[in-house]
Amino acid sequence: MRYQFYREHKYVSAALNDVERLIAKADFHDSEAITQVAEAFEALAKMLIGHAQYENERLHTLLKEKQSAVYAHVEKDHANQDVQLEEIRGLIDQVFKARTEEEKTQKGYQLYLTFRKFVADNLAHLHEEETEILPELQRLYTDEELQQVEAETYREMMPEQLVDMIGVLFPHMNPSDRQAILKDFHDLEPEKFAIAWKQIHSLLPEGERHKLEASM
Ligand SMILES: [Fe+2]
Ligand SMILES: [Fe+2]
Repeated sequence: MRYQFYREHKYVSAALNDVERLIAKADFHDSEAITQVAEAFEALAKMLIGHAQYENERLHTLLKEKQSAVYAHVEKDHANQDVQLEEIRGLIDQVFKARTEEEKTQKGYQLYLTFRKFVADNLAHLHEEETEILPELQRLYTDEELQQVEAETYREMMPEQLVDMIGVLFPHMNPSDRQAILKDFHDLEPEKFAIAWKQIHSLLPEGERHKLEASM
């Protein structure tokens, strides 16, 4: 297997679906439920904006350096994502401000439809990144060069931040993904890894833990 990016997309997909499920079931006549939707949406928006920024700055820069323009479409998606997030924010506000129960039901349904379309667009976007951007990066760079992209990310991270990140991502991943992420951190930041490992190892199933220890 070649070096891979985008493993965190499994988490992104789950996070999008969680908010879609929340909006699907929300009682828009209850202001607490609308507040819960607004908070979940803002947390998701923050994560998606950070994710897009990381891709523009770290991954697309690599393509630009090799005069490849394959990133152009997904970068346009990232700009469009900001517009869509603003539209959804406006719809949540309309649900809040609706005066009658009927109006809240109607605005809530509009919110649900718009958000679900946003999820559909975003899932297609993740697919495009993994099937078009990733192969292009693999074609232009060696695995060793690609691994260095995460070096900067991990250099800025404290061991506690690594533990937090793993707590968020790992439940959505399979053992191969978990092993690849831990191996990156182990290779790039061995000292920080040693500190973080004391907390991480208890989060892993025993069999997986032994396999990892043997591979490092
Ligand atoms: Fe993206
Ligand atoms: Fe992405």
